[in-house]
Amino acid sequence: MDVLIVGGGGREHAIAWALKKSPKVGKIYAVPGNAGIAEIGRCYPEISVTDFERILRFLKTHKDVGLTVVAPEEPLAGGLADLLGKNGHKVFGPVKAAAKLESSKSFAKEFMKKYEIPTAKYAVFDDYVNAVKYALSSKHPLVIKADGLAVGKGVYICENTKESKTAIDELMLDGKFGSSGGRVIVEEFLEGPEITVLAFSDGNVIVPMASSQDHKRAFDGDKGPNTGGMGAFSPSPVFTADAAKDFSENIMEKTLAGLKGEGIIFKGVIYFGLMLTRDGLKVIEYNARFGDPETQAVLPRLETDLFDIMSACADGTLSKIKIKWSGRTCVCVVLASGGYPGKFEKELPISIGGTDRDVMLFHAGTVKSGRRLLTNGGRVLGVTALGATMDAARNKAYKNAEKIGFENMYYRKDIGIKK
Ligand code: AMP
Ligand code: GLY
Repeated sequence: MDVLIVGGGGREHAIAWALKKSPKVGKIYAVPGNAGIAEIGRCYPEISVTDFERILRFLKTHKDVGLTVVAPEEPLAGGLADLLGKNGHKVFGPVKAAAKLESSKSFAKEFMKKYEIPTAKYAVFDDYVNAVKYALSSKHPLVIKADGLAVGKGVYICENTKESKTAIDELMLDGKFGSSGGRVIVEEFLEGPEITVLAFSDGNVIVPMASSQDHKRAFDGDKGPNTGGMGAFSPSPVFTADAAKDFSENIMEKTLAGLKGEGIIFKGVIYFGLMLTRDGLKVIEYNARFGDPETQAVLPRLETDLFDIMSACADGTLSKIKIKWSGRTCVCVVLASGGYPGKFEKELPISIGGTDRDVMLFHAGTVKSGRRLLTNGGRVLGVTALGATMDAARNKAYKNAEKIGFENMYYRKDIGIKK
């Protein structure tokens, strides 16, 4: 059976790579895809992830596609899964009402409050004057967030009242994130290591994947601006058996029960962004999809057929599948364009010196021009290595990263060192 993947980042390459291992998967298509996915499937760079009509038309003319995987947040929040489902296509990825867990932070916060899922204390404001008044009288540091999608950039950690005022001004007066900032969430600042747990759900049951940790800041030592993620590893050493039990009982199962309580059938991946605070695990955010780069570090450890899991999620039969993970550690180092997450150049030639065994080179922002491989985004490649220990995996990833070059390339040197 053929599969269509909607998306074109490192996450989508990792998904394509894992699906390719399944004997049940025939051709892999991707819209728009990237140069890495094009090595194992067929990409359509001219079709964007939000061009719903063209995606639907594509499926009408490719009758052997039996499963569509919608990976990024934008088409999920816009209702692509609903549209494809209504037209009789099998989809891995939540419907719009379920994707609201990610697309509206106020919805997610109210959901957590209602179902007693631990999260930071908060208040929601639609009114500028009240938001400022509340923020100025709150204890700092204080966290201020845009309600809607803001490509991971709508969160301000404010050290003092001046910074809080600036954040609210940017979101509510200047419209920095458009309508996403019309409503703001003012939130208590939490401290502790951050852990990502992705979980598969078919709407009936929920099954966690192996834990991971992202590295959101651009530079070593968690310095510099927030990015989409500069590297990841799996498993997280701080996600102990006790933490896993706490997560399962107090967060994951309660989330599924809450979704059922709201009449929402979630078929896809729930991303739990967690913080291990002194008072236990708390949810920082939900996403309604695989994380990136976390997926690049998690899927290489998956020993069960991903196509079987995704099909079971779509069919509501996930309870029949036993999901197994390798005991090895996986480290993913993101190679980025100089200037990212700000302005950067594109179409710079990339040289790759070959990869060692147990190293996966997941493409993100890459494109082919004739036989040349060129940069085509902020995050360009994810050098991902499996090893018996964190040190082994990390050393292998960095050794292979050194064999790759393009002008102004930069990457963090401390992925897998932070505990
Ligand atoms: P989000 O987009 O909600 O994941 O937030 C982006 C990043 O901001 C998170 O990964 C955290 O590092 C940080 N953050 C968000 N909310 C809080 C909070 N309540 N306390 C401390 N840090 C936070
Ligand atoms: N790495 C963070 C995210 O995918 O949202």
